[in-house]
Amino acid sequence: MEAKEKFYPGLDGVVVAETKISFLDTVQSEIVIKGYDLIKLAESKEYLDIVHLLLEEKLPNSIEIAEMKKNLKGEYVIPEELLDMFKHLPENTHPMDGLRTGISALAGYDNNLDERSLTANKKRAYQLIGRVPNIVANSYRIIQKLEPILPDENLSYSANFFYMLTGRIPTSLEEKIFDQSLVLYSEHEMPNSTFTARVIASTQSDLYGALTGAVASLKGNLHGGANEAVMYMLNEAGSVEKFEELLETKLFKKEKIMGFGHRVYMKKMDPRALLMKEALKELCDIKGDDTLYKMCEAGERIMEREKGIYPNLDYYAAPVYWMLGIPIPLYTPIFFSARTVGLCAHVIEQHANNRLFRPRVSYIGERHVFNKTTGQL
Ligand code: ACO
Repeated sequence: MEAKEKFYPGLDGVVVAETKISFLDTVQSEIVIKGYDLIKLAESKEYLDIVHLLLEEKLPNSIEIAEMKKNLKGEYVIPEELLDMFKHLPENTHPMDGLRTGISALAGYDNNLDERSLTANKKRAYQLIGRVPNIVANSYRIIQKLEPILPDENLSYSANFFYMLTGRIPTSLEEKIFDQSLVLYSEHEMPNSTFTARVIASTQSDLYGALTGAVASLKGNLHGGANEAVMYMLNEAGSVEKFEELLETKLFKKEKIMGFGHRVYMKKMDPRALLMKEALKELCDIKGDDTLYKMCEAGERIMEREKGIYPNLDYYAAPVYWMLGIPIPLYTPIFFSARTVGLCAHVIEQHANNRLFRPRVSYIGERHVFNKTTGQL
């Protein structure tokens, strides 16, 4: 009889990888990305700097970033057949499902699919970082029977993404805030989607497969899907008083409140949320209407008082995207798009130093004894 191994529901507290990519330092309250504090990076660097940091192991100098921007522009376009394929998806296809289908289909365009080298994977990673915003925006538009908006190479990476999502060129403040949200979403240690990608990659499966699985993981509202759920909740309430009532009713019914809580920092505010809270304040001040900001603050107070639980990034990213005029169903795909680089870095690391993920179970089902004499079960 084998000894019963200890079972950790939800793998809570279990270390599943050695990594040089990132780490949530709960003691020093830092999200460490390649040695840097993510919050400091988000205050001073752009999304593409973080792409360089994650894929090239260092922050870029001016020549390197210029080169990377030029190369990425060449990756914005997606195969024409993908745009056609989206036309055949039913109108109620969720954008995360459109995105999942699109990323999965890209595998067929890779003539070197079996190659797992660092060079081949990095090339794919840059292609995906260039193409995913286009897939996000235009799978949604085409499924909604809208004309696709083709990428504009004259715009920055984030401005072009914003343009394809909304049909308008952002102001410099909107571009800065949107870019900052991408930095904040870019990488975050070992959430469910990253673990999913690494589990898939550990079978020596390819980057597209690993990312396709990660999209499905990120769609759930206990993970990335929370950002759009937050916005539906805020809109359903519409005022501070009604939001307070709604939260109290949900808590009374023991429902989870979307945008609150986190496996790693449950009893502290997610440091990323604070930057998006400041951005929301800025956007509300410009609009001259701070209703959303006040609603969010009221929600924070209730959750602190009733549960001792604090906002995560999704709680403040959602109203920020709303103020930027982005359609709600695109919030989770934007999260995924920003996370593409982090996921690619993890798959590359997994392929470079692989051991197949194959855990065990604690079996609590029945056992039926085979009767050797009668030959019957
Ligand atoms: N609302 C109400 N209560 C909550 C919430 C919440 N959002 N989150 C946790 N709790 C409570 C639970 O009810 C539980 O209370 P109990 O011990 O009295 O039963 C306790 O806190 C522990 O909760 P678990 O669900 O066991 O914690 P876990 O680590 O598994 O969950 C999770 C983390 C899934 C993020 C959870 O906090 C949650 O469901 N939050 C809402 C969804 C969400 O915002 N997801 C986004 C995550 S961050 C990201 O992806 C960027």
